[in-house]
Amino acid sequence: MKKLGYAVLGLGIGMAHAEAAEASEYADLVAACDIDEKRLEKFASIYPNATLYRDFEELLKDERVDIISICLPSAMHADFAVRAMEAGKNVLVEKPLDII
Ligand SMILES: NC(=O)c1ccc[n+]([C@@H]2O[C@H](COP(=O)([O-])OP(=O)(O)OC[C@H]3O[C@@H](n4cnc5c(N)ncnc54)[C@H](O)[C@@H]3O)[C@@H](O)[C@H]2O)c1
Repeated sequence: MKKLGYAVLGLGIGMAHAEAAEASEYADLVAACDIDEKRLEKFASIYPNATLYRDFEELLKDERVDIISICLPSAMHADFAVRAMEAGKNVLVEKPLDII
C-alpha cells in the first residue's frame, strides 16, 4: 500500500498533526510550511528528513504531497484549503473550518 505523502501548513497546533502523521502507518511526513523561521528550525530538529517550505505556492508544487493539514490562524483556513484543493491536494482543516 502506498503511504500518503503528508504535509503540515502552520507549525503551532500543526506540530501535533505532524506527530500524528509520523506515527501513522498510512502516512509519510514529507514536508512542512511556515513563515516563522524558529518554528521551521524546531520542526527540522524533530523531523530532519522532511522538506521545509516558507512559501505555500512552493509546497503546492511538491508532487510527493498528497494531503496538507491546514493549521493556519482561523481566518485563513478556507482560502488556503481551496488553493490546496485547486492544486489537486487533499486537505485536513483544523477547526474552525473558517470564520467570517
Ligand atoms: N493551539 C491549539 O491548541 C488549537 C486547538 C484547536 C484548534 N486550534 C486552531 O488551529 C489553528 C491554528 O492555531 P495555532 O494555535 O496553531 O496558531 P499559531 O498562530 O500558533 O500558528 C499558526 C502558524 O501559521 C503560520 N503562518 C501564518 N501565515 C502563514 C502563511 N502565509 N504561510 C505559512 N505559514 C503561515 C504562523 O507563522 C504560525 O506558525 C487556529 O484556527 C486555532 O483555532 C488550535
